[in-house]
Amino acid sequence: MISIREVNGNRVMERDGQFVCCDTPVMRAYFERQVGEFHGRVLTTGLGLGVALSFLCALPAVESVDCVEQDLEVLCAYGELPEKASLILADAWELQGEYDCCFHDIWSDYEGKEAEASRLEARFGAPLQVSLPKTFGR
Ligand SMILES: C[S@@+](CC[C@H](N)C(=O)[O-])C[C@H]1O[C@@H](n2cnc3c(N)ncnc32)[C@H](O)[C@@H]1O
Repeated sequence: MISIREVNGNRVMERDGQFVCCDTPVMRAYFERQVGEFHGRVLTTGLGLGVALSFLCALPAVESVDCVEQDLEVLCAYGELPEKASLILADAWELQGEYDCCFHDIWSDYEGKEAEASRLEARFGAPLQVSLPKTFGR
């Protein structure tokens, strides 16, 4: 079961009591640094709390954002869909497509996920791709 609670003023999403993701100033700053230059047709994998999705949709150079999420409960917990956004209920590993830019964030724990992240990136034809495991914290 998905739940969202507040911890020290920040939203935290959990699944059956296990951490999924959070919305903190550090995460927001990270998203801004990594995807601030995104443009055109964008894909993001992993909706979570939708922080990255909202940020991407607010970028003037972004035309559209496809967001892939495999958990229906996570999709239902999300609020009003921003303009430009489409939600796709699917497993990111089952999809392929061509995008200008991709942001992959399907991991709650990034430790040792570099190879997996590279394989996910390879599924999508995009000149600009970012995955949290390779870049988070740098
Ligand atoms: C770390 S959260 C994403 C946080 C999100 N970037 C945000 O801004 O809040 C990871 C999300 O990826 C989803 N997910 C995990 N594996 C997936 C897969 N194979 N395909 C699609 N979504 C997946 C999880 O259900 C979860 O909602």
